[in-house]
Amino acid sequence: MADLLDALRARCDDALGRLLPAGDGRLEQAMRYAVLGGGKRLRPLLVYASGQACGVPLARLDPAACAVELIHAYSLVHDDLPAMDDDDLRRGRPTVHRAFDEATAILAGDALQSLAFEVVAGGVAAGLPAEVVLAQSLELARASGAAGMAGGQALDLALVGGAPDIDILSRMHGLKTGALILAAVRLGASAAALDDPVRTSALERYGRDLGLAFQIQDDVLDEAGDSAVTGKAVGADRARGKPTFTSLLGLDEARRQAQALVASARDALARAGGETAALEALAQRLVDRRA
Ligand code: IPE
Ligand code: IPE
Ligand code: MG
Ligand code: MG
Ligand code: MG
Repeated sequence: MADLLDALRARCDDALGRLLPAGDGRLEQAMRYAVLGGGKRLRPLLVYASGQACGVPLARLDPAACAVELIHAYSLVHDDLPAMDDDDLRRGRPTVHRAFDEATAILAGDALQSLAFEVVAGGVAAGLPAEVVLAQSLELARASGAAGMAGGQALDLALVGGAPDIDILSRMHGLKTGALILAAVRLGASAAALDDPVRTSALERYGRDLGLAFQIQDDVLDEAGDSAVTGKAVGADRARGKPTFTSLLGLDEARRQAQALVASARDALARAGGETAALEALAQRLVDRRA
């Protein structure tokens, strides 16, 4: 299974390399720098894995897989800006605003977001019915906007210095990180135009639980990870007074909750039916992850 996931990751990297602008202008270079040369590609892998579980050919999954990674990459570029988390290190390299400059980083994020929707629209040329492509555009727009990632990031900034209860923190994590992870699972399934409420709700449970578990583990790694492995600063959340699962619950309980959520995601998979081995392997990867 590791080989299959590595092959899917390489497939996505190749496709992204072709989709990104090749010009040697500062903006184009910053876009390529932000996307290529690192990253686990979890979200595209989820698109491929959930699409496969629903019997969708890989070529029809490439547009959504690439689009969700482009949105994710844009979110990281903006997340690292001085006005947000003010981070210098990402994927083991200087952040985009450090390697280029702030204005270029802002514009690269903007342009990556636009490119994501252009790429989704390319689903028609990849053989998807126009109504599926429309549904995928809506899915991605909602998951990345005010009711999704961007809304979660706003809540994240509003909570700095505070000690929210665990429900508010879970809501913030569910929006800033969970929404795009759930969207990745739904995008893969939507390519099959699934009309099976039991299967759809099982996959959604998997996506929701995995999304929250993923951000809890991100909080754990910010506190107790190894910067050489994560490729990011360690201790940054604590230094900035960010409320996290570890600041509220402690490391052990945060780890326990992440594991419980992954177990619940796996239970949901058992109800989803279809070929779920890749989704299962991705859940296991999340439990084991150190980066
Ligand atoms: C980091 O995401 C930011 C979060 C939403 C937690 P990833 O851990 O998926 O980052 P990359 O893409 O592998 O660099
Ligand atoms: C980021 O959360 C969520 C995004 C939408 C990018 P974090 O701020 O914890 O992500 P890292 O730790 O910088 O990757
Ligand atoms: Mg942040
Ligand atoms: Mg950050
Ligand atoms: Mg973090």
